[in-house]
Amino acid sequence: MQKLIFGNWKMNLSAADAVTLAQAASKLSIDAGLLRVAVFPSFTALAGVSASLKGSSVALGAQDCFWENTGAFTGEVSPTQLKELNCTHVLVGHSERRQSMNETDEMVNRKLRSALSAGLTPVMCVGETDNDRRSGQWSNVIARQVAKGLADVKVSGNQEIVIAYEPVWAIGSGRACVPENAREAHALVRNAVIELFAPAVAQKNFRIIYGGSVDEKNIASYLALEGIDGALVGGASQRAASFAGLIEAVQK
Ligand code: PGA
Repeated sequence: MQKLIFGNWKMNLSAADAVTLAQAASKLSIDAGLLRVAVFPSFTALAGVSASLKGSSVALGAQDCFWENTGAFTGEVSPTQLKELNCTHVLVGHSERRQSMNETDEMVNRKLRSALSAGLTPVMCVGETDNDRRSGQWSNVIARQVAKGLADVKVSGNQEIVIAYEPVWAIGSGRACVPENAREAHALVRNAVIELFAPAVAQKNFRIIYGGSVDEKNIASYLALEGIDGALVGGASQRAASFAGLIEAVQK
Protein backbone atom coordinates (compact mmCIF):
# COMPACT_ATOMS: atom_id res chain seq x y z
CA MET A 1 0.00 0.00 0.00
CA GLN A 2 1.09 3.57 -0.70
CA LYS A 3 3.01 5.24 2.14
CA LEU A 4 2.02 8.80 3.00
CA ILE A 5 4.59 11.57 3.37
CA PHE A 6 2.97 14.80 4.50
CA GLY A 7 4.86 18.08 4.95
CA ASN A 8 3.49 20.44 7.58
CA TRP A 9 4.95 23.84 6.79
CA LYS A 10 3.35 25.45 9.87
CA MET A 11 3.44 29.29 10.03
CA ASN A 12 7.00 29.34 8.76
CA LEU A 13 7.13 30.49 5.15
CA SER A 14 6.13 33.62 3.27
CA ALA A 15 3.71 32.97 0.40
CA ALA A 16 6.59 33.54 -2.04
CA ASP A 17 8.90 31.11 -0.19
CA ALA A 18 6.12 28.53 -0.05
CA VAL A 19 5.71 28.76 -3.83
CA THR A 20 9.47 28.29 -4.30
CA LEU A 21 9.43 25.23 -2.05
CA ALA A 22 6.36 23.86 -3.82
CA GLN A 23 8.07 24.29 -7.20
CA ALA A 24 11.01 22.25 -5.91
CA ALA A 25 8.64 19.60 -4.54
CA SER A 26 6.76 19.42 -7.84
CA LYS A 27 9.99 18.42 -9.60
CA LEU A 28 10.77 15.51 -7.28
CA SER A 29 10.57 12.13 -8.86
CA ILE A 30 7.86 10.33 -6.94
CA ASP A 31 6.66 6.81 -7.58
CA ALA A 32 2.94 7.42 -7.03
CA GLY A 33 2.37 3.69 -6.67
CA LEU A 34 4.58 3.68 -3.59
CA LEU A 35 4.15 7.13 -2.15
CA ARG A 36 1.58 9.85 -1.70
CA VAL A 37 3.23 13.17 -0.98
CA ALA A 38 1.22 16.18 0.22
CA VAL A 39 2.23 19.59 1.51
CA PHE A 40 0.36 21.74 4.02
CA PRO A 41 1.20 25.46 3.65
CA SER A 42 -0.44 28.40 5.43
CA PHE A 43 -3.83 29.56 4.13
CA THR A 44 -2.19 32.63 2.58
CA ALA A 45 0.02 30.43 0.41
CA LEU A 46 -2.59 27.89 -0.69
CA ALA A 47 -3.56 29.56 -3.96
CA GLY A 48 0.04 30.07 -5.10
CA VAL A 49 1.13 26.60 -4.04
CA SER A 50 -1.94 25.09 -5.69
CA ALA A 51 -0.93 26.67 -9.01
CA SER A 52 2.67 25.47 -8.63
CA LEU A 53 1.60 21.89 -7.92
CA LYS A 54 -0.78 21.65 -10.89
CA GLY A 55 0.05 18.59 -12.96
CA SER A 56 2.55 17.29 -10.38
CA SER A 57 2.11 14.25 -8.17
CA VAL A 58 2.23 16.33 -4.97
CA ALA A 59 -1.13 16.88 -3.29
CA LEU A 60 -2.23 19.94 -1.34
CA GLY A 61 -3.58 20.22 2.19
CA ALA A 62 -4.43 22.95 4.68
CA GLN A 63 -3.37 23.13 8.30
CA ASP A 64 -6.86 23.62 9.75
CA CYS A 65 -10.49 24.25 8.80
CA PHE A 66 -13.70 25.36 10.44
CA TRP A 67 -16.72 23.09 10.87
CA GLU A 68 -19.30 25.23 9.03
CA ASN A 69 -19.17 25.79 5.29
CA THR A 70 -20.46 29.37 5.11
CA GLY A 71 -21.76 32.04 7.43
CA ALA A 72 -20.84 34.71 9.93
CA PHE A 73 -17.60 33.18 11.22
CA THR A 74 -15.08 35.97 10.81
CA GLY A 75 -11.56 34.73 10.33
CA GLU A 76 -12.43 31.09 9.75
CA VAL A 77 -11.86 29.07 6.56
CA SER A 78 -14.26 26.32 5.55
CA PRO A 79 -13.69 22.90 3.99
CA THR A 80 -15.52 23.93 0.82
CA GLN A 81 -13.31 27.01 0.48
CA LEU A 82 -10.28 24.72 0.75
CA LYS A 83 -11.70 22.47 -1.96
CA GLU A 84 -11.99 25.49 -4.24
CA LEU A 85 -8.20 25.81 -4.05
CA ASN A 86 -7.72 22.13 -4.93
CA CYS A 87 -6.96 21.01 -1.40
CA THR A 88 -7.56 17.31 -0.93
CA HIS A 89 -6.34 17.02 2.66
CA VAL A 90 -6.65 19.02 5.87
CA LEU A 91 -5.01 18.71 9.29
CA VAL A 92 -7.34 18.83 12.27
CA GLY A 93 -6.41 18.94 15.94
CA HIS A 94 -2.68 19.46 15.56
CA SER A 95 -1.20 19.58 19.08
CA GLU A 96 -0.09 23.18 18.54
CA ARG A 97 -3.77 24.10 18.02
CA ARG A 98 -4.94 21.96 20.91
CA GLN A 99 -2.40 23.70 23.17
CA SER A 100 -2.29 27.29 21.90
CA MET A 101 -5.88 27.71 20.64
CA ASN A 102 -7.49 25.49 23.29
CA GLU A 103 -9.02 23.19 20.70
CA THR A 104 -10.99 20.45 22.41
CA ASP A 105 -11.70 16.90 21.25
CA GLU A 106 -15.25 18.06 20.46
CA MET A 107 -14.02 20.86 18.20
CA VAL A 108 -11.62 18.48 16.48
CA ASN A 109 -14.49 16.05 15.94
CA ARG A 110 -16.68 18.76 14.35
CA LYS A 111 -13.84 19.79 12.04
CA LEU A 112 -13.13 16.21 11.05
CA ARG A 113 -16.77 15.46 10.23
CA SER A 114 -17.15 18.64 8.24
CA ALA A 115 -13.93 18.00 6.27
CA LEU A 116 -15.01 14.46 5.53
CA SER A 117 -18.42 15.46 4.26
CA ALA A 118 -16.85 18.10 2.00
CA GLY A 119 -14.80 15.31 0.40
CA LEU A 120 -11.46 16.15 2.02
CA THR A 121 -9.22 13.61 3.72
CA PRO A 122 -8.96 14.75 7.34
CA VAL A 123 -5.61 14.16 9.03
CA MET A 124 -6.44 14.08 12.73
CA CYS A 125 -3.45 14.56 15.02
CA VAL A 126 -3.35 12.84 18.39
CA GLY A 127 -0.57 12.34 20.92
CA GLU A 128 0.41 12.54 24.54
CA THR A 129 2.45 15.19 26.36
CA ASP A 130 5.63 14.49 28.31
CA ASN A 131 3.59 14.56 31.51
CA ASP A 132 1.09 12.04 30.15
CA ARG A 133 3.95 9.71 29.25
CA ARG A 134 5.63 10.07 32.65
CA SER A 135 2.43 9.60 34.61
CA GLY A 136 1.59 6.44 32.67
CA GLN A 137 -1.54 8.10 31.23
CA TRP A 138 -0.30 8.21 27.65
CA SER A 139 -2.35 5.30 26.33
CA ASN A 140 -5.56 6.63 27.92
CA VAL A 141 -4.96 10.06 26.44
CA ILE A 142 -4.45 8.70 22.93
CA ALA A 143 -7.46 6.35 23.18
CA ARG A 144 -9.63 9.26 24.37
CA GLN A 145 -8.49 11.59 21.58
CA VAL A 146 -9.21 8.91 18.97
CA ALA A 147 -12.60 7.94 20.42
CA LYS A 148 -13.83 11.53 20.87
CA GLY A 149 -12.34 12.73 17.60
CA LEU A 150 -14.17 9.98 15.71
CA ALA A 151 -17.48 10.17 17.61
CA ASP A 152 -20.51 9.96 15.30
CA VAL A 153 -18.30 9.64 12.24
CA LYS A 154 -19.71 7.59 9.38
CA VAL A 155 -17.29 6.35 6.76
CA SER A 156 -18.41 4.91 3.45
CA GLY A 157 -17.00 3.92 0.08
CA ASN A 158 -13.50 5.20 -0.45
CA GLN A 159 -13.64 7.94 2.16
CA GLU A 160 -10.36 8.14 3.98
CA ILE A 161 -9.33 9.31 7.43
CA VAL A 162 -5.69 9.64 8.40
CA ILE A 163 -4.67 9.66 12.04
CA ALA A 164 -1.27 11.16 12.80
CA TYR A 165 0.25 9.89 16.02
CA GLU A 166 2.44 12.77 17.14
CA PRO A 167 3.75 12.64 20.69
CA VAL A 168 3.82 16.30 21.75
CA TRP A 169 7.29 15.97 23.31
CA ALA A 170 8.71 14.73 20.02
CA ILE A 171 7.44 17.64 17.90
CA GLY A 172 10.14 20.10 16.88
CA SER A 173 12.37 18.84 19.70
CA GLY A 174 14.80 16.61 17.84
CA ARG A 175 13.71 13.87 20.29
CA ALA A 176 12.00 11.53 17.85
CA CYS A 177 10.01 8.70 19.39
CA VAL A 178 11.86 5.38 19.52
CA PRO A 179 10.41 3.51 16.50
CA GLU A 180 9.31 0.55 18.61
CA ASN A 181 7.37 2.89 20.94
CA ALA A 182 5.78 4.53 17.91
CA ARG A 183 4.76 1.09 16.62
CA GLU A 184 3.18 0.32 19.99
CA ALA A 185 1.23 3.60 19.95
CA HIS A 186 0.10 2.94 16.37
CA ALA A 187 -1.27 -0.44 17.39
CA LEU A 188 -3.14 1.29 20.19
CA VAL A 189 -4.61 3.82 17.77
CA ARG A 190 -5.62 1.02 15.38
CA ASN A 191 -7.35 -0.81 18.24
CA ALA A 192 -9.17 2.36 19.29
CA VAL A 193 -10.42 2.67 15.68
CA ILE A 194 -11.51 -0.98 15.67
CA GLU A 195 -13.58 -0.28 18.80
CA LEU A 196 -15.64 2.14 16.71
CA PHE A 197 -15.71 0.69 13.20
CA ALA A 198 -15.94 -2.69 11.58
CA PRO A 199 -12.46 -4.25 11.25
CA ALA A 200 -12.70 -4.12 7.45
CA VAL A 201 -13.44 -0.37 7.57
CA ALA A 202 -10.68 0.21 10.13
CA GLN A 203 -8.24 -1.46 7.73
CA LYS A 204 -9.42 -0.01 4.42
CA ASN A 205 -10.48 3.54 5.26
CA PHE A 206 -8.02 4.50 8.00
CA ARG A 207 -4.30 5.20 7.65
CA ILE A 208 -2.10 5.85 10.68
CA ILE A 209 1.10 7.85 10.35
CA TYR A 210 3.84 8.99 12.73
CA GLY A 211 4.99 12.57 13.34
CA GLY A 212 7.59 14.19 15.59
CA SER A 213 11.17 15.08 14.58
CA VAL A 214 11.08 12.87 11.48
CA ASP A 215 13.99 13.55 9.10
CA GLU A 216 15.78 11.96 6.18
CA LYS A 217 17.94 9.90 8.55
CA ASN A 218 15.24 8.30 10.69
CA ILE A 219 12.25 8.09 8.33
CA ALA A 220 13.06 4.63 6.99
CA SER A 221 13.13 3.18 10.51
CA TYR A 222 9.47 4.18 11.01
CA LEU A 223 8.18 3.15 7.62
CA ALA A 224 9.77 -0.28 7.96
CA LEU A 225 7.48 -1.08 10.89
CA GLU A 226 4.19 -2.90 10.64
CA GLY A 227 1.23 -0.57 11.03
CA ILE A 228 3.06 2.71 10.33
CA ASP A 229 1.59 4.02 7.08
CA GLY A 230 3.66 7.14 6.66
CA ALA A 231 4.90 10.30 8.33
CA LEU A 232 3.81 13.86 9.08
CA VAL A 233 6.96 15.92 8.85
CA GLY A 234 7.38 19.48 10.11
CA GLY A 235 10.88 21.00 10.15
CA ALA A 236 12.46 18.63 7.63
CA SER A 237 9.72 19.34 5.07
CA GLN A 238 10.35 23.09 5.15
CA ARG A 239 13.70 23.05 3.31
CA ALA A 240 13.92 21.81 -0.28
CA ALA A 241 17.09 19.77 0.29
CA SER A 242 15.91 17.90 3.38
CA PHE A 243 12.47 17.26 1.90
CA ALA A 244 14.08 15.84 -1.25
CA GLY A 245 16.41 13.74 0.94
CA LEU A 246 13.44 12.40 2.85
CA ILE A 247 11.58 11.36 -0.29
CA GLU A 248 14.75 9.77 -1.63
CA ALA A 249 15.31 7.85 1.61
CA VAL A 250 11.79 6.44 1.44
CA GLN A 251 12.02 5.37 -2.19
CA LYS A 252 15.43 3.70 -1.85
P1 PGA B 1 8.46 18.26 13.41
O1 PGA B 1 6.89 18.63 13.37
O2 PGA B 1 8.71 17.28 12.30
O3 PGA B 1 9.15 19.57 13.20
O4 PGA B 1 8.72 17.65 14.75
C1 PGA B 1 5.91 17.65 13.14
C2 PGA B 1 4.54 18.27 13.19
O5 PGA B 1 4.31 19.18 13.99
O6 PGA B 1 3.63 17.86 12.45
